[in-house]
Amino acid sequence: AAAPAAASGALTFKPIPPNQLDALVVPNGYDSAVVIRWGDAVVPGAPAFGVHKQTWQAQLKQFGYNNDYLTVLPLDRRGDRALLVVNHEYTNEELMFPGFTSHDALTVDQVKIAMAAHGLSVVEIERVGRTGEWRPVNEGGRRYNRRITALETKFIMDGPAAGSPLLQTKADPSGTTVIGTLNNCAGGTTPWGTVLSGEENFNQYFVGGDQAPEAIKPGLARYGIDTTKRYPSGSRKWERADTRFDLAANPNEAHRFGWVVEIDPYTPGSTPRKHTALGRFKHEGATIAVAKDDRAVAYMGDDERFDYLYKFVSDKRMDRGRSEQARRHNMTLLESGTLYVAKFEYTSASEIDGSGKLPSDGAFNGRGSWIPLVRGNRSLVPGMSVEEVLVFTRLAADKMGATKMDRPEDVEVNPKTGKVYAALTNNTQRGTAGKAAADEANPRNANKHGHIVEITEAGGDNGAESFSWDLLLVCGDPKDPNTYFAGYDKSKVSPISCPDNVTFDGAGNLWISTDGNQLGSNDGLFAVPLAGPERGHVKQFLTVPYGAETCGPFITGDGRSVFVNVQHPGEVDGARVENPASTWPDGDFAKPAVVVSWRLDGRPVGS
Ligand code: FEO
Ligand code: CA
Ligand code: CA
Ligand code: CA
Repeated sequence: AAAPAAASGALTFKPIPPNQLDALVVPNGYDSAVVIRWGDAVVPGAPAFGVHKQTWQAQLKQFGYNNDYLTVLPLDRRGDRALLVVNHEYTNEELMFPGFTSHDALTVDQVKIAMAAHGLSVVEIERVGRTGEWRPVNEGGRRYNRRITALETKFIMDGPAAGSPLLQTKADPSGTTVIGTLNNCAGGTTPWGTVLSGEENFNQYFVGGDQAPEAIKPGLARYGIDTTKRYPSGSRKWERADTRFDLAANPNEAHRFGWVVEIDPYTPGSTPRKHTALGRFKHEGATIAVAKDDRAVAYMGDDERFDYLYKFVSDKRMDRGRSEQARRHNMTLLESGTLYVAKFEYTSASEIDGSGKLPSDGAFNGRGSWIPLVRGNRSLVPGMSVEEVLVFTRLAADKMGATKMDRPEDVEVNPKTGKVYAALTNNTQRGTAGKAAADEANPRNANKHGHIVEITEAGGDNGAESFSWDLLLVCGDPKDPNTYFAGYDKSKVSPISCPDNVTFDGAGNLWISTDGNQLGSNDGLFAVPLAGPERGHVKQFLTVPYGAETCGPFITGDGRSVFVNVQHPGEVDGARVENPASTWPDGDFAKPAVVVSWRLDGRPVGS
């Protein structure tokens, strides 16, 4: 029976129940293993990790903290060797440093360890035997291994805003070279074999916003930087290690973060880029589709309550050739193009009362348009130069009447259909005093559990300037009448809350990881068919250990392995290294880690 089921895309695994275990739980018939964890050696010569002997010099060579996005890029035709590329979004100092009392008490060396634990890791991995399990290669084989960090790595800025006075600093009067990337959240893998990563909540690393020039304060404030206090509460104290993070001394430094970065993991010494053409916001990530005329299309979310969904369409066409020359050409595609923001229109707006009740036409749906903000070097936003639109993209989108969404997170394109899926994590402020009320695309006030929007571009062309849309899921406990599972029988679906990252399997099913489950159980990974009679049948595939969020789901091209990132295990109020809320994965204290799960019979996962 398995073969016809796989052909129809039906998911045959028995869903696991919600739980609060401090364990990685997978369905019967599957196994899982840790691939790499915080502190493990990445760069040859890395010292062995010891929680009491941490140094920033060691961390520069070791696997970083809070792995979020991940991708696996092939290194051979047999599919036995690959590059694992992972980003490290942020650090939990209270769970890293024994004796932690407060951020104020961190030493400069500890701040530098935290900076070195941000960024990305490139790790050469190999298949274990003939199974779906993977492990890092031995030290002698690590030709590509690399750490990219917030502490040391040089980035080149490209695109229309590169060199702008808004990006110039004392240390970089050219406005084109930045040290470090930070708060890298979701990401994408390009058809030309590079990795994109979004710089998300960069605001929390900066102090001194009260001393910044008045002219840039509105821009800083729109991105969440406090412009009223010298030292806002909750900042990370990085200014102690590097005055770049003090806006009193370096007011433009904050403009140099909040970009999409592109890394070429196949070229270990390559200088990564920050692409100004893709705009600056709290970038969740960027995923690439190809338009009918071969231009590259990047879909992007800005993860903040009431912020927007964007896309970028390149000016130049992708070269589908496999030569190094074609690859070099494709690595310039994100330097120039059209940046759009999404505006949603509705079919049943009058029936939306904020409860989440389905309108009488049976669907949350409508049409929409992509509003252009910049074309090449030309601004389409009245009163803003092209550099201002790209550096203060949120202000530009505000002016142009884009639709305020419930925290747009990961956006991915189904390779089978070209349809676009955006996870909207939640927005408990929707409909509260002074804030936007529910609309058909964000149909619940005080939206605790989030939803997923499905976008069908006009003519099936990812380069189109208009689209139709519908909601695939309105998440929560299926017993709650104001949830929606694409019309599927709700007595048969798994509860799901706070969708965050999405990916696809070879059959075109959507896989969804969650962040911050509001139903009282651990976060996890879910799969749901998108077509046919099983559309909307959400099934829970795994749960992550206590206090963790599930990130970066990735399914290998052969379907035999599903990778997930376990981010911030044990992140619970009051937890410390000495008093952990989670002891996963080694039984001592919590460590973020990459996990792979595979099916014991070797068949494609899910099917
Ligand atoms: Fe880093 Fe929007 O999650
Ligand atoms: Ca995320
Ligand atoms: Ca409708
Ligand atoms: Ca998140």
